Amino acid sequence: MSVENLIDRINKKETVVGVIGLGYAGLPLAIEFAEEGFEVVGFDLNEERVSKLQNGQSYIEDISSARLKEQVRDKRLSLTAHSKDLARADVILICVQTPLRKSKEPDISFIIKAIEGIPTPKKERLIVLQSTTFPGTTEEYVRPYFEKNGCKIGKNLFLVFAPERIDPSNKKFHSSNIPKIIGGETEACSRVGKVLFEQVIEKVVVVDSAKSAEMVKLLENTFRADNIAMVNEFALMCHEMDIDVWEVIDAAATKPFGFMPFYPGPGLGGHCLPVDPVYLSWKAKILDFDPRFIDLATVINAQMPQEIVVRIGDLLNDKGKSLKGSHVFIVGVSYKKNVADYRESPALDVIDLLQKKGATIEYHDPHVAQFELNEKVFHSKKLSESHLKKQDIVVVLTNHDEIDFKSLVKQSPFLFDTRNATKGLSAAKGKLIRL
Ligand SMILES: NC(=O)c1ccc[n+]([C@@H]2O[C@H](COP(=O)([O-])OP(=O)(O)OC[C@H]3O[C@@H](n4cnc5c(N)ncnc54)[C@H](O)[C@@H]3O)[C@@H](O)[C@H]2O)c1
Repeated sequence: MSVENLIDRINKKETVVGVIGLGYAGLPLAIEFAEEGFEVVGFDLNEERVSKLQNGQSYIEDISSARLKEQVRDKRLSLTAHSKDLARADVILICVQTPLRKSKEPDISFIIKAIEGIPTPKKERLIVLQSTTFPGTTEEYVRPYFEKNGCKIGKNLFLVFAPERIDPSNKKFHSSNIPKIIGGETEACSRVGKVLFEQVIEKVVVVDSAKSAEMVKLLENTFRADNIAMVNEFALMCHEMDIDVWEVIDAAATKPFGFMPFYPGPGLGGHCLPVDPVYLSWKAKILDFDPRFIDLATVINAQMPQEIVVRIGDLLNDKGKSLKGSHVFIVGVSYKKNVADYRESPALDVIDLLQKKGATIEYHDPHVAQFELNEKVFHSKKLSESHLKKQDIVVVLTNHDEIDFKSLVKQSPFLFDTRNATKGLSAAKGKLIRL
């Protein structure tokens, strides 16, 4: 029987694993499978990325170039920009991006293009969709495509949804020790998927269907986004009541049960939290369900950059200055600490709004050497006392570990900290303000 044959070959590591999309999600997984002894073909349409990887140069911070080089040198990992090279793959993992359109609707065109580019297999094959998406994507879009092309789901094509749950820069949890959720289109699909991931991941959790697995990921990320929205609202309320929100959260977190701390900040960023709940909300509305919680949290989080700019304006105003003509120095532009990813980063919204108000912006970020916004290229400036002294206000938007916040407090004439990066530090009265 073909299912037993495929399982047997996976167990013997005789199957070739293809990975489509070599970004934050796909590259670590390709490396894990190669390190476990599988032959891996990594495919990405971005030729520049492929060429870097072929030369042993990693662009994902969690994957060292040395780790990558070893797999490329030993020919366990090959990289390609041509989908035809996936023809030999018995297992294909799809890790392409799932952004929102300008209209705030899900854009699953990258998934569709990825599946359309998969060459016809000679024998049975396992296809795993890993990209975060709305419930029903595998069943309503991916499955019909393969069926139309003559594949028999659960017989010669095994189709599984297995969400990617990595947390970039997390030193404790990475691809191999984060339990893997899988949901197959049939029981046989789940069986094959489970055997595959058991080769590289410590714990595999099987749920009833691909649709359930899609929903698990959205519950996780909606949980985070909603809680962050709630604590952002607390931060705004605390400011009105002249209460230190950071102290309140730390004190509440001493409760040993029933409370889990979330922290406020300048807004959500990255490819996941600002996007994923909107995928779910879109799907719910199609079914005439009004997801009020998700939509309220989305609005509150999206308003945070505006709230931060209002606070910066108020702080300058207190010193008799206006935003127009002020020099604002931003510390940290990536969406969270210790990563280089600035996609959807709230820092970009804050900078955009400040510029529109006539402020002059410079920034420092040890992870982001440069970025482009409104057709202007910004370059990270060194942190130096002489330069900081010339600023009207210094604003911390990302709390990277490498930044010496003690020196920053000392050297900045006036500092607004939106991340509590200066926790425990003190400054002359009115010189250091926290969100
Ligand atoms: N970044 C994260 O921390 C994270 C965490 C968990 C889940 N995810 C999910 O994983 C998925 C991928 O996210 P990412 O951050 O790795 O994205 P990414 O943009 O870093 O990488 C996606 C890669 O796919 C490539 N690609 C796009 N279409 C392709 C195609 N048809 N064929 C071949 N390559 C193609 C792109 O060139 C890009 O290199 C998303 O659905 C995301 O929500 C991401």
